[in-house]
Amino acid sequence: MPRIRYASFLRVIVILGLFCIWLQIMLSASSGGLERDADPTNIEVETLGTLETIEELKRELVADEEELMNANETSEQVLALVPQELHKYLTVHPRNNSANSTDLPKNITEIRRSIKRYNDAQTIYNEDIFGPVQNDTIIIAIQVHTRLTYLRHLIVSLAQARDIERTLLVFSHDYYDEEINNLVKTIDFTKVMQIFYPYSIQTHPNEFPGVDPKDCPRDAKFEQAIKLKCNNALHPDSHGHYREAKYTQTKHHWWWKANRIFNQLQCTTTHTGMVVFLEEDHYVAEDFLHVLNLMRATADKSCPQCEILCLGTYLKTYQYHATGDKRKKQLTLSYIQQVRAANEERRRRKMDTSSWNYQVYPNLYGYTQKVEITPWHSSIHNMGMVFNRTLWNNIMSLQDQFCAYDDYNWDYSLLHLAQNRQGREKMKVMLCKGPRVFHIGECGLHHKKSNCNANLVISKVQKLLQTTKHLLYPKRLTATISPGGAKHNKRLVKGNGGWGDVRDHELCANMTKVGRQQRKYIYYS
Ligand SMILES: *[C@@H]1O[C@H](CO)[C@@H](O)[C@H](O)[C@H]1NC(C)=O
Ligand SMILES: *[C@@H]1O[C@H](CO)[C@@H](O)[C@H](O)[C@H]1NC(C)=O
Ligand SMILES: *[C@@H]1O[C@H](CO)[C@@H](O)[C@H](O)[C@H]1NC(C)=O
Ligand SMILES: *[C@@H]1O[C@H](CO)[C@@H](O)[C@H](O)[C@H]1NC(C)=O
Ligand SMILES: *[C@@H]1O[C@H](CO)[C@@H](O)[C@H](O)[C@H]1NC(C)=O
Ligand SMILES: *[C@@H]1O[C@H](CO)[C@@H](O)[C@H](O)[C@H]1NC(C)=O
Ligand SMILES: *[C@@H]1O[C@H](CO)[C@@H](O)[C@H](O)[C@H]1NC(C)=O
Repeated sequence: MPRIRYASFLRVIVILGLFCIWLQIMLSASSGGLERDADPTNIEVETLGTLETIEELKRELVADEEELMNANETSEQVLALVPQELHKYLTVHPRNNSANSTDLPKNITEIRRSIKRYNDAQTIYNEDIFGPVQNDTIIIAIQVHTRLTYLRHLIVSLAQARDIERTLLVFSHDYYDEEINNLVKTIDFTKVMQIFYPYSIQTHPNEFPGVDPKDCPRDAKFEQAIKLKCNNALHPDSHGHYREAKYTQTKHHWWWKANRIFNQLQCTTTHTGMVVFLEEDHYVAEDFLHVLNLMRATADKSCPQCEILCLGTYLKTYQYHATGDKRKKQLTLSYIQQVRAANEERRRRKMDTSSWNYQVYPNLYGYTQKVEITPWHSSIHNMGMVFNRTLWNNIMSLQDQFCAYDDYNWDYSLLHLAQNRQGREKMKVMLCKGPRVFHIGECGLHHKKSNCNANLVISKVQKLLQTTKHLLYPKRLTATISPGGAKHNKRLVKGNGGWGDVRDHELCANMTKVGRQQRKYIYYS
């Protein structure tokens, strides 16, 4: 008896001890959270709260430190995995400060003139080498802002993709910059076109769609705004906030770009092929076109309702709706609850900042590529989206659902539209379980001041693709049909806001009214 009691007493002690260690680790992990979260090498721990994870956590923290120490090497490693002939896309040419007038930055009048000239000319570089755009040419639309470093790597990844020479790359810019333009013009592996969003903040610094000094401050109260008689006093968004130019630009640009490509360019007059939507901080696998064609063929044969194909996957999709307010409430929680809440918060934030932390399970790549057919959801299936004119025409017929919906996100606006198609099913997406498009750009977005090293992320993706090289170019697809979770099927009730200003609605609607424009050949004397 006493021995048994002693044993169980010991067990309690041990369990208590372990629990204390666990608590301590939890605490140090969460109190150091701010620092650690800024650290790009953090590895997500999915199930904190069980004893088994302590060792894992420790191991991962050690691994983190090592990776940081080696951060220096990674830029060399990245370069080592890029073929020599593509280094030119990564080489930074220092700006010429030799005071020549031709090198001075353009003023706004000049930028607007250049933009108009580019858009009128609709020049397709390398058309002479790779032939004209056909009705089934895959068009790769890339939305570009200012993140040149990422764009360089995207170009390097595109350069290595098989069949890239049969595509048309359309770079859509909302920021005019000679360095970016020069980089794009050096692309020699396929046809390239540059289009310029003409209503940018850059070219409208003191007027709508930029920030008009007479616009209402974001946080002004309605009565206050009326008194101020500011421009948009009558039109706060559904959350009571006034317009912020920089948040509206991305949706406008996305919409303008899609309109431009499908409806306005001369070279797409008879185009019926696929349009791939990428962003400047994406990175493609070398077989992405191969997989895309497989997906298209499979969809044509056995999934006619798959109107969208998706090449990227967010492997970890959590559903957290924590808000600032919820965080404040934590003060009233018990100690344990606080620890847990802090960890959840940390995990949630890491989810925001570390979706680049690619842990692609080996079985996601294979000789048979797995795809999933599921209801399309904006925030899950917005990376490497692909569709054709058939869906676009449907979108155009419901354009006001996009333009008037109070949400500054283009993908949520599209979801709203998708949910309001009379007599039609929800859009289905066929998505690639082993991603062919990666997001390499989280780092710079959230970690401006930290030591976050973009090369680290790029290096991870490179290595992942290298180690799975023998599994790329699958011969077949196997599709699973999934009804999707609650999130996939949730009906949007109210938008995320940021799109309450009628001027935004009008500008958005105006973009659809522009008809097809012939190429204007401009001769320089
Ligand atoms: C990192 O690189 C810089 C310059 O390339 C060098 O001066 C420094 O010593 C390196 N640090 C480490 C830890 O290797
Ligand atoms: C800078 O200007 C000089 C003289 O105008 C020229 O020789 C040189 O090639 C320029 N460098 C770059 C990077 O454009
Ligand atoms: C740049 O300026 C130098 C003298 O300041 C001149 O010799 C040179 O030709 C100029 N280059 C260009 C490209 O205008
Ligand atoms: C912009 O530059 C052009 C010449 O390059 C000049 O005529 C014009 O006055 C300048 N505009 C402004 C606003 O500085
Ligand atoms: C594409 O163009 C070819 C001729 O250029 C034509 O035969 C074919 O029917 C067209 N396909 C579609 C889908 O329009
Ligand atoms: C566009 O894709 C749909 C499937 O989403 C397909 O049914 C249709 O035939 C395609 N349209 C053209 C013109 O190829
Ligand atoms: C939309 O187009 C109309 C007619 O061209 C024009 O009067 C109006 O200013 C435009 N609105 C915006 C916001 O660009």
